[in-house]
Amino acid sequence: MTWAIVPAAGRGTRFGGDVPKQYLEVAGRSVLAHTLDALASHSGITGLVLVLEEGAAPESAFRADGTLGRPCLITAGGASRADSVLAGLAALPDSVRADEFVLVHDAARPNLAHADLDALLERGRADPVGAILAAPVRDTLKRAGDDGGIDGTEPRERLWRALTPQLFRRLQLTRALEAAAAAGVAVTDEAMAMERLGARPLLVEGADDNFKITTPADLARFAFELARRTH
Ligand code: CTP
Ligand code: MG
Repeated sequence: MTWAIVPAAGRGTRFGGDVPKQYLEVAGRSVLAHTLDALASHSGITGLVLVLEEGAAPESAFRADGTLGRPCLITAGGASRADSVLAGLAALPDSVRADEFVLVHDAARPNLAHADLDALLERGRADPVGAILAAPVRDTLKRAGDDGGIDGTEPRERLWRALTPQLFRRLQLTRALEAAAAAGVAVTDEAMAMERLGARPLLVEGADDNFKITTPADLARFAFELARRTH
């Protein structure tokens, strides 16, 4: 039994435009609908908590026509991604015990494959702390000077890009995010909150194409990936 929390309360400022990126349509469905479907169609997912911007109409988010086939609770998010995830954790049903694992997955990552979810659930549940999907850094990394010149080359051997989903126990993750907020530390993913408390989450290598839609070029890439998948 694993519930998924989907933070979708962002404004998409880097993407630009009037409509937040998660509501833009690709192949006739919103990015958010594609993301929810990628999770709900997996047999390991029991239910979803969808976190929307305060005042957002649920019907603008996805077609509430029951095709998800999983319970989907909706709650209002906060000013930061971490606040939104905390709101999602609080909205989980009481039946999700304190020590049970829950997933957090960005609404802006619609291209999640079942194989990656399989690997994360299997390896993460076997870890005392939990796990995240991640991809090794493949490009050579340069440190820039103030003048735009290169100050040096950074070793990339042990560097990974953190993706989502991320899998942690309900109460531990809640406590970690609350502690970061109380300390005024802006955490950009769940693992960072856990790391602050001395935990060492497991890195599970995932596909490079579980990318986050940040700019219009990423949306075009998703349209391409989707067409490739269905033909
Ligand atoms: N998110 C959220 N609540 C916030 C901020 C972000 O639920 N206050 C969600 C976004 O909707 C997205 C995920 O967290 O699904 C990852 O965030 P990001 O890609 O940064 O999206 P935005 O914050 O919307 O984009 P930007 O940073 O460009 O404004
Ligand atoms: Mg953001």
